[in-house]
Amino acid sequence: MSDTAFDSSVYPLPHLLGIEGLSPVDISLFLDRADTYVEMNRKRGVMLDTLRGRVVINLFFENSTRTRTSFELAGKRLGAEVINMSVSTSSIKKGETLIDTAMTLNAMHPDVLVVRHASSGAVKLLSEKVNCAVINAGDGRHEHPTQALLDALTIRRRRGQIDGLQVAICGDILHSRVARSNIHLLNTMGARVRLIAPKTLLPAEAERLGTEVFYDMKAGLKDCDIVMMLRLQSERMESSFFPTLREYYHFYGLDYEKLESAKPDALIMHPGPMNRGVEIASDVADDIGRSVIREQVEMGVAVRMACLEVLCNNLDRAQGQEHKS
Ligand code: NCD
Repeated sequence: MSDTAFDSSVYPLPHLLGIEGLSPVDISLFLDRADTYVEMNRKRGVMLDTLRGRVVINLFFENSTRTRTSFELAGKRLGAEVINMSVSTSSIKKGETLIDTAMTLNAMHPDVLVVRHASSGAVKLLSEKVNCAVINAGDGRHEHPTQALLDALTIRRRRGQIDGLQVAICGDILHSRVARSNIHLLNTMGARVRLIAPKTLLPAEAERLGTEVFYDMKAGLKDCDIVMMLRLQSERMESSFFPTLREYYHFYGLDYEKLESAKPDALIMHPGPMNRGVEIASDVADDIGRSVIREQVEMGVAVRMACLEVLCNNLDRAQGQEHKS
């Protein structure tokens, strides 16, 4: 059993597919619960049995280091059985469709499927076909809810609150599910969001997302509390979006000179994996006083523990209601 009781029924949904549409109360539930796991995760050898007997399947159709590993660790820390499906060794390589794969896994009665897929909307589609909980671990350019939650936890622990902060999200916003989930979360929690990118790397709906748009780093970073850098996601680019990497770094790479515009204690964030010397200078990324990039990874495990726990509790509640009716 875990130490403190908490009421996960405030988040009533069976799945976690995105941040869009969540309320401040929903978001705070995940953050508050994750907070209780941070200290525990720092102690060696502590394991809980909150999810004993549960089965979590990681189904990743795209590469991942941080997200997959941290879901695995999160499940194991809570006592669940965690299975990693690797696309390269599964029947997906033999042409099995997304839905067939999902139905096959569903027939083995897992409690949670954690899914990453290259197409926006694929995880939602899959969630409609299975009767277990589904967590979106990144779908195309659409959403990456657990990344936004871990970013929020990192910010909240460092700054005490999210409300009122000025946050700049910089770089390849067009291809970034991290940016989209973060925009929804930060807006919902009362932060002011700025997007800084070349025109070619901004989505057409940028102005409608409730953000301020800048094309110049120094202007956009002025007096910001948080600087969130994004990877240049070349694997999602169908054409050329800027002349050269050198030029991109010159205008949009975060270095100390550009950072001078932000508040002196501004935090530097990056979801990883980083392209050093492309979107961020190495010395800035490694600045122990200001960069919280490693801390983001640490918060990822705690946040994913909270997500698995809330959704498993919801499964129990749904099953209880089925039995009653
Ligand atoms: C991100 C992703 O996959 O969307 N990575 C991650 O989960 N930490 C960001 C990226 O790939 O650039």
